[in-house]
Amino acid sequence: MNPFWSQIARELSPYVPGEQPRILNLVKLNTNESPFGPSPLALEAMRNAATDTLRLYPDPEATELREALAVHHGIKPEQVFVGNGSDEVLAHVFVALLKQPKPLLFPDVTYSFYPVWAQLFGLACETVPLDGAMRIRVEDYQREAGSIVIANPNAPTGVALSRAEITRLLEDHPDIPVVIDEAYVDFGGESSVPLIADHPNLLVVQTMSKSRALAGLRIGYALGDVGLIEALHRVKNSFNSYPLGRVAQAGATASVRDEAYFRESYARVVAGREAMTRELIRLGFAVLPSSANFVFARHPALGGSEFAAALREHAVLVRHFNKPRTSPYLRITVGTEDDAQRLIAAAAHILGHE
Ligand SMILES: Cc1ncc(COP(=O)(O)O)c(C=O)c1O
Repeated sequence: MNPFWSQIARELSPYVPGEQPRILNLVKLNTNESPFGPSPLALEAMRNAATDTLRLYPDPEATELREALAVHHGIKPEQVFVGNGSDEVLAHVFVALLKQPKPLLFPDVTYSFYPVWAQLFGLACETVPLDGAMRIRVEDYQREAGSIVIANPNAPTGVALSRAEITRLLEDHPDIPVVIDEAYVDFGGESSVPLIADHPNLLVVQTMSKSRALAGLRIGYALGDVGLIEALHRVKNSFNSYPLGRVAQAGATASVRDEAYFRESYARVVAGREAMTRELIRLGFAVLPSSANFVFARHPALGGSEFAAALREHAVLVRHFNKPRTSPYLRITVGTEDDAQRLIAAAAHILGHE
């Protein structure tokens, strides 16, 4: 260990992102990116923004983007906060809202960045086990807490809670911040955005990395009561005034305005998910019901770690989480039709189904 490290750096256990290999002709189904490109209008807007004006700092408030998001979601621009990927937005949320004297609750199986931020920012937290079917049960959150964060659909399971279940959670906890991370909601989940009007403690976080195919641009945002959004601005302006550059703001704004392309591309992903799920079930996989752009699947014949390694030998990359409850599973991103065929052919070969 380097002697110049602070105590904070020494004690961290950082999040490990999915591999971004530089191998050609790989079927990359490990980081839940979109198999289709971003809106052509977004690409054009970014090309147009790459001019001499880049010498100037961007709008620190990302006004146009926030206005476009407000129109898309039917709320006011003051209810929108944007950041450099929803990871950055969530990090600010941990500091601005979730850090309370009582513990933060989240599921035992969920986005693995939550415990990392909790450690970085010194939050006490308690995990709430998923049930035997790997579902979140909102009744299990009926206990004393300082705050709650839930990914809906959950990651890496893909299983979604209904809006009625989220309403029940909010009714049980009117006095603490409740954050719903909707990174995958556009692929079939029920968004909690309509609940914002009646719940000043609800913050909904979304991203443009998945359904808008802009993971490389890094755009995330939060929607909620103006009081919650103000807290996020206070933290952001104590950290980085300009998290989104000019090109990113232009591309993201054009993407939000291109409703037709957005609808078409998430519908294609949903169709791909259903087709891939049918094929996996045919090969004997147990697949959790997914409302996301990935599935969480296990096979009785082979452990998750062995299966992921065998698929890698066939140049197919999927994600495996080596924790007790998740280790039998593979998390497989929905790709193109061709990706799905190569995945299924490789899995069939591994299982000796030929
Ligand atoms: C549940 C969940 N939340 C947030 C994120 C972060 O997404 P981004 O920082 O690309 O917006 C991810 C990324 O995989 C995720 O799975």
